[in-house]
Amino acid sequence: MKNSELLVRKIREGTVIDHIPAGRALAVLKILGITGREGYKVALVMNVESRKLGRKDIVKVEGRMLNPRETDIIALIAPTATINIVKDYVVVEKRRVELPEIVAGVLKCKNPTCISRKENEPIEPKFRVVSRSPVKLQCIYCGSMLSEEDILEQILEG
Ligand code: CTP
Ligand code: ZN
Repeated sequence: MKNSELLVRKIREGTVIDHIPAGRALAVLKILGITGREGYKVALVMNVESRKLGRKDIVKVEGRMLNPRETDIIALIAPTATINIVKDYVVVEKRRVELPEIVAGVLKCKNPTCISRKENEPIEPKFRVVSRSPVKLQCIYCGSMLSEEDILEQILEG
């Protein structure tokens, strides 16, 4: 039995996000918009041994099947993550996360004069993915760049 399984039991139905870089489980929950107030049973496993990553985090959400549109955004902060959809205790689907070409709505531009930050006429912030490893995003409106650290910082403060 694996160490992670000694900490948290298997789930019956839901989503297991595995192979998250160690220490990023909270950021994964934030990016998914899961606060704990929705009522789902949520388990966080942090800093357990992984053959592939050395150390990893795991997030388990019981009772909720997350679709690719919801989970692909995880690639911003955890590109190694694997998504496991569980039904009747069995993993019925396993997939990787993949950044879309354009990241819309999740992050805000760093440039205070960017049109996406105008107070009274909100425009959805949109970024083009210019690099995947390391992640680099560029605002489609003003060209400002967001680095991996910028992204992690925004998600954890938001
Ligand atoms: N899992 C769970 N509840 C289940 C089934 C699986 O919590 N009913 C968890 C496992 O503990 C593991 C992840 O989902 O963290 C993936 O399960 P599985 O595919 O069985 O594990 P591995 O084969 O080790 O996965 P991989 O090949 O992706 O490393
Ligand atoms: Zn901008």
